[in-house]
Amino acid sequence: MCVEITINNLLIEMAPPKRGATVLKKEKQPLRSPIDSSSTVLVVGASRNIGLQLVRQCLALGARVIGTERTSSALHRLSGNKHILKADVTDGESIEQLAESLENESPITHFIYNAGMVQVGGSLHTATVQQMQSVYSVNTVGFVRTIQAVIKNLAAEAVIAVVGSRMGSISQNWYGEAYAYRASKAALNIICKGISVEYEDQFAVVMLHPGRIGSVPLTEGVQGMLNAVQATDIDSEFRFVNYNAELIPW
Ligand SMILES: NC(=O)c1ccc[n+]([C@@H]2O[C@H](COP(=O)([O-])OP(=O)(O)OC[C@H]3O[C@@H](n4cnc5c(N)ncnc54)[C@H](OP(=O)(O)O)[C@@H]3O)[C@@H](O)[C@H]2O)c1
Repeated sequence: MCVEITINNLLIEMAPPKRGATVLKKEKQPLRSPIDSSSTVLVVGASRNIGLQLVRQCLALGARVIGTERTSSALHRLSGNKHILKADVTDGESIEQLAESLENESPITHFIYNAGMVQVGGSLHTATVQQMQSVYSVNTVGFVRTIQAVIKNLAAEAVIAVVGSRMGSISQNWYGEAYAYRASKAALNIICKGISVEYEDQFAVVMLHPGRIGSVPLTEGVQGMLNAVQATDIDSEFRFVNYNAELIPW
């Protein structure tokens, strides 16, 4: 028997968890790095769904928001203190252009990497080389290339927030499948841990999970992630936070 979920309007069947979900501890989330009128937020991958909602909510908090898109998107319909830049995270030249354009902006106080290629389902034998590589190039390598280019544009003690996925948690993998996606997000976890260590005196790094959008309303998933972002500062431990403040084990 399968459970049905909807992602990007696609009805997907997944095997039910073989083991029950564990009860996770929740963190307290005091405001440590508020997003407000003194903030400049960069959202990479802002054209739709979670990214677009991140921009919408940051604008509502009064921030200057820079959102990236690959092609003209619904971002243009949002009103507020925003700037739209083009970026394809698989294209080095495009990433360099993004970094160059950021020279004209105030330093980024909150960097949010949301760009992702979502892939669910698929047994071991359906994981192709092409699929593994394309998912990895956006979700993992794309993040590395982007942060390498824009790190010089970050403010002192900026928050680097990365939209990962609980599917990238090894201990929370109850039903297998989605090899490419899970691997890309698990790799993102270790990369972000590395950055949190290498830049521990300069930046704060946090991994986020929005919940399974569809089961969790989009506005709630995004608001929950922004609560975690704002509860993060240079003194915070590197952690993986669910939209509802649960701490997700690696
Ligand atoms: N939806 C969920 O339930 C869920 C759960 C856990 C984690 N997440 C994570 O949340 C993030 C957003 O998910 P979503 O559901 O909003 O996905 P989505 O609707 O597929 O949106 C993906 C975003 O990434 C951008 N993107 C894809 N490839 C890119 C590239 N090469 N360069 C730059 N931007 C690129 C897309 O831009 P275009 O419009 O140009 O394609 C779009 O803005 C992803 O990282 C995903 O893994 C989602």
